[in-house]
Amino acid sequence: MLEPVGVKLGSLNTVVAYRKRIIRELTVVARTGGSLSNPRYVFSHSAFRHSSAVYPLRFGMPTSEESASLLSEYVKWLLKDISEESFIVFAVPMMNFEQGIALLKKLLSTIKAKQLFTEAFCTAVNVLCRRATEIEDMIFLVANLGSTTTEFAVFDGFTRRASRSYPEPSGNQLDREIASLLSERLGGAYISDNEAREIKERFSLDNPRDFSLKVLVGGRIRERVIRNEWLRESINSYLADVLSKTEEFLSQVEPELLSRLVSFGSVVVGGGMCNLKGSRKVIAEKMEELLDLKPSFPKDGVAAPALGARLIAEHFITS
Ligand SMILES: Nc1ncnc2c1ncn2[C@@H]1O[C@H](COP(=O)(O)OP(=O)(O)O)[C@@H](O)[C@H]1O
Ligand SMILES: [Mg+2]
Repeated sequence: MLEPVGVKLGSLNTVVAYRKRIIRELTVVARTGGSLSNPRYVFSHSAFRHSSAVYPLRFGMPTSEESASLLSEYVKWLLKDISEESFIVFAVPMMNFEQGIALLKKLLSTIKAKQLFTEAFCTAVNVLCRRATEIEDMIFLVANLGSTTTEFAVFDGFTRRASRSYPEPSGNQLDREIASLLSERLGGAYISDNEAREIKERFSLDNPRDFSLKVLVGGRIRERVIRNEWLRESINSYLADVLSKTEEFLSQVEPELLSRLVSFGSVVVGGGMCNLKGSRKVIAEKMEELLDLKPSFPKDGVAAPALGARLIAEHFITS
């Protein structure tokens, strides 16, 4: 029998969910040398600090020949350990352009047993279902708070009835803001976007704690204190943006669909940014105010799409 595998291919995080284990990677490739006809690459955690690091899915889909070919190398590397006896469901960013979907399908064309679903849909399956078929009778809104986009979609079972992907707010945008804010507060220290991301991931809205960090100031490494309150404003403004985009999206959903959503539906909020400590209470309050529905969250927004994808893969195998 085929083994069900769920793969989330995101702009920052790639997660592979097998039956008994989960593997987390970063969606990044770096060229380290080799010849023109035989280039050498490194991937994921070995690539992300490299000066030639490229995130081929950063904008949802590769935007050039070069990033398409890097994505193809990445996918080859990622799949080398997955047995041919697998049925793979890929959770991919929401793409409303045919070209991107066609390209991704071509890259994945060597895999015989596979299906593609959006990351938002897979997260909802993870949160709402014990078996993927249960989703057929559900109507639900998903907000997917990712590193490069904030996506919204309303699904009626497997059918996507409305969707929109906003380039802002995003996790990366917040990282850039935090990097420049900290650089200013720390007297011109250099803070990379990756460092800012790590700081953001340690931050908590409910449990304000300052922490110290080694930073580069004027060419020397120094220990500096990062105050929780410095970040609070940026984080709150990110959350306010997410909520105002939610409102904007809902105002564009056709009333009949919205009314069914409110009467019989569910709301799911996922994506890595829903892991931001203390954010769920703020998001839940506002969603309830907007829709009179309590949103559900995955245990881990980064892994949820891969887990949902695996559940869908199980469904394909057994049906
Ligand atoms: N514990 C956490 N706290 C705050 N932010 C987090 C946490 N975990 C992940 N994130 C953020 O979520 C984003 C990644 O979300 P993800 O949905 O995996 O993105 P993508 O689909 O674009 O790869 C990043 O901005 C990351 O910093
Ligand atoms: Mg994503």
